[in-house]
Amino acid sequence: MKTPSLVVFASGGGSNLQAIIDAIAVAELQMRIVLVISDQPNSGAVQRALTNSIPVCAIPYPRQATAEQRIAWESTAINVIDSFTPDLVLLSGFMRILSSATLSRVTVPILNQHPALLPDDGGDIVTLHDGRTIPALRGAHVVRDALTQNLPVTGCTIHRVVPEVDRGPVLARAKVDIVPGDDEASLYARIRAVEQPLLIATLQKFE
Ligand code: GAR
Repeated sequence: MKTPSLVVFASGGGSNLQAIIDAIAVAELQMRIVLVISDQPNSGAVQRALTNSIPVCAIPYPRQATAEQRIAWESTAINVIDSFTPDLVLLSGFMRILSSATLSRVTVPILNQHPALLPDDGGDIVTLHDGRTIPALRGAHVVRDALTQNLPVTGCTIHRVVPEVDRGPVLARAKVDIVPGDDEASLYARIRAVEQPLLIATLQKFE
């Protein structure tokens, strides 16, 4: 059977990209990363891809991009993706919102990683196993938001991407307790520690 091919969009350090590279290297994951696309040419994710001989398409995203520049960026990215004919696309710390027009041009599943708990129903409330509820945190600073809102618990979610940002069907999630003395760095470190195995387990379902 053909090994599924994966395109990864990433803006940041790329620790999750590295987790995928490592899982493939030890045959824990039967997948090929055929391309990494980034809006941040100097990012760790781009560096990790280059170090591992993975093709990279790094297109700088203009500051304060106009609608036309955003369309141009996405259109270039989609044309590049098309030429790699992936079976799956993953947004792994990709800090841009793709337009619904662009999403509709991608015919394979697109997954997104989110460093907070999101509910099954795309709503604004997450119900925990013990019946407590917390707000669904969305946006770019959700680890910090979990602390400033004094939540008892946060976590991470992997979901299918739909045009409504961070509201697509949930594929997997994991809870992370917030402990006294936590700051953004300590909490994010514990989220990453559960997020990476969750990502690999989720990707295995697409093998
Ligand atoms: C991950 O924690 C992912 O959940 C988050 O970015 C991080 C990327 O880390 N995604 C978002 O915040 C998307 N809004 P990495 O660059 O080290 O893999």
